[in-house]
Amino acid sequence: MLVLGIESSCDETGVALIDSEAGLLADALHSQIDMHRAYGGVVPELASRDHIRRGIALVDEVLHKAGKTRDDLDAVAVTEGPGLAGALLVGAGIAHAIGWALDIPVIGVHHLEGHLLAPCLADPAPEFPFIALLVSGGHTQFMRVDAFGQYEMLGQTLDDAAGEAFDKTAQLLGLPYPGGPAVSALAEKGKRGAIELARPMLHAPTLDMSFSGLKTSVLTAVKSAEDPNDEHFRQDLARGFVDALVDVLAAKLVRAMKMTKLKNVVVAGGVSANKQLRARLTYEVNRRGGTIFYPPMRLCTDNGAMIAVAGLERFKRMSEEERAQLTERDGFAVKPRWPLNQL
Ligand code: KG4
Ligand code: ZN
Repeated sequence: MLVLGIESSCDETGVALIDSEAGLLADALHSQIDMHRAYGGVVPELASRDHIRRGIALVDEVLHKAGKTRDDLDAVAVTEGPGLAGALLVGAGIAHAIGWALDIPVIGVHHLEGHLLAPCLADPAPEFPFIALLVSGGHTQFMRVDAFGQYEMLGQTLDDAAGEAFDKTAQLLGLPYPGGPAVSALAEKGKRGAIELARPMLHAPTLDMSFSGLKTSVLTAVKSAEDPNDEHFRQDLARGFVDALVDVLAAKLVRAMKMTKLKNVVVAGGVSANKQLRARLTYEVNRRGGTIFYPPMRLCTDNGAMIAVAGLERFKRMSEEERAQLTERDGFAVKPRWPLNQL
């Protein structure tokens, strides 16, 4: 079965082709980062227009790369939510147009389920049950995953997401959007412990987290600095920020392992590309006899492959009746807000 995956929930147009037997055949991505950088963040209207410009061309590109034609497609998987409404509608429009034209099913995919399943595209793939830590620009949550589609929320951020904290810290340090990679690189050069920042809820007996206080302590440090543009100060502050954030996530992950008694851990979402976070979490999990799984580096941030794999896995588990519903052509909708536990 050949599935085309389309992702357009935010600022990346991602398209991929996955075969149920052969795995990922091809993927292509257009990132809008350069376009949004001038505004310091994603401009939804510009995002939608750019998805329109890129979508079909990327579909043709992956088909060409894989040596396939549109007629070879058996289904289309598309991000149905959560995300920017206009951006989601563009991807859904393309997916449903292809679905109608070829009379094949269109599978609506939850963006976070896509992130969660991205590690399945790595070798070795994780085995159920596992603890999932999802760290992206919009979400930071711990989940217990017993099987495909069975997600139990264990705890989450009460305010800012980890990626958001990276992006806001980058802004305060005068670094370009998106902030994750830039803050991480600056932190590499900083001295550990030179600037200690708040670690909110570190010892709270739950898996909930809070990162807005950390952002405020970055702001306070910048405001009270003698020379906020001093290179050593900026490096040490970036280091203080990364160490605080990594400490909290590591402590909560260790707590999650104790609470669930699970040894398998999956870390996914844009921030799972972070070098310092990967090193620390890998150390903590291995030290406790566990195994940690990440998506392949380039599939940590938004992409079409994770949507294709989530769509394929969902389709495999559907009844005949559920499958038939996917070809009832009565329009389509998207879900800009869509909690994962409502899947
Ligand atoms: O998963 P993603 O591509 O989009 C959402 O679904 O939100 O995550 C984007 C987030 C951004 O906040 C970005 O700054 C962060 O992931 N990010 C990183 C790194 N690469 C991306 N954060 C820290 N270190 C990185 N290397
Ligand atoms: Zn994402």
